[in-house]
Amino acid sequence: MSGVAGTVVGMATAIRFDHVRKAYADGTVAVGDLSLDVEAHELLALVGPSGCGKSTTLRMANRLVEPTSGRIFLDGDDVTDVDAVGLRRRIGYVIQNVGLFPHRTVEQNVATVPRLLGWDRGRTRARVGELLELVGLEPGRYARRYPHELSGGERQRVGVARALATDPPVLLMDEPFGAVDPVGRRRLQTEFRRIQAELGTTVMLVTHDVDEAVRLADRVAVLSRGGRLEQLSDPVRLLAAPASAAVADLVGTGAAVRLLALGTVERRDLRPAGDGRGVGTAHGLRVGDPLDAAFAALAAEPSGAVPVHEGDAVVGTLDAPGLLAALHRLVDGAQDAAA
Ligand SMILES: Nc1ncnc2c1ncn2[C@@H]1O[C@H](COP(=O)(O)OP(=O)(O)OP(=O)(O)O)[C@@H](O)[C@H]1O
Ligand SMILES: [Mg+2]
Repeated sequence: MSGVAGTVVGMATAIRFDHVRKAYADGTVAVGDLSLDVEAHELLALVGPSGCGKSTTLRMANRLVEPTSGRIFLDGDDVTDVDAVGLRRRIGYVIQNVGLFPHRTVEQNVATVPRLLGWDRGRTRARVGELLELVGLEPGRYARRYPHELSGGERQRVGVARALATDPPVLLMDEPFGAVDPVGRRRLQTEFRRIQAELGTTVMLVTHDVDEAVRLADRVAVLSRGGRLEQLSDPVRLLAAPASAAVADLVGTGAAVRLLALGTVERRDLRPAGDGRGVGTAHGLRVGDPLDAAFAALAAEPSGAVPVHEGDAVVGTLDAPGLLAALHRLVDGAQDAAA
């Protein structure tokens, strides 16, 4: 065990908040006493009500805000010992409400850090093109535009591209997808998650959206007023075993539905397919499919049982009791682990 909430001995810590406090000049205590470790390569989501200190916490990590007391370490280095420029190279930052440079084009905005690092023109241009494609903005159409010529969601995507430009080992993201429409948002989240896992980037992501947090994060930190850490756990445990009334409030009545997205169909939930029901139909599920897909398939199947495939074979059928059993297993497993 260790002295800091949520840490597991043996894992590398990318960012450590050690009894950090921030009282602003007018006396507002944005963060009272926060200790939190972000493990290397994980995506940690910070959620909590408006004004609870999420942005303040992020901004202390790259010293846009100086803590009143306590210490913050980046890969073991006290951030107050690292010069600000060196720090910004190691930490990418996607700011709440974007913060693009208004008099620079999309291309120039995304190229900000590569230019600071002295990349040559060719390399920079190639990288910018790649990143714009990635966030779904066709370079030919968007590279020369100015921020005021973009929609809010497009501006946010430029912000994400800009932060990824130099593959920083640590990325701080403050509501990065907030203004993107639901479909584009889902796509951007999925793409982002794929890249993050591939590059091994450590990410601290602030969001109001509990769905976004549980879908993307390895662990979720729930804060309440004054930067109080209410719970730090994996998404399933957060939904199945909220540690406090504040967390239960936040995850709300939709928790069971959200859990469906996190569980998968397993063989033990199936009935034998011996009666041939559904066998040979084009539709059906596969072992390992998410439970929300299973729910949708069941809802659309008048017979109440959906064939489940593994490889080329039908290995059984899933019915409503089977789906409920899978859901209960998730909840019980999380509650046992929390007890
Ligand atoms: N420069 C400042 N001076 C005084 N108080 C501030 C300052 N910046 C933030 N605060 C206060 O600190 C508290 C935490 O603010 P913070 O921006 O960290 O909240 P947040 O959790 O990011 O909220 P939101 O979800 O609305 O973005 C709030 O009460 C806010 O009013
Ligand atoms: Mg904020």
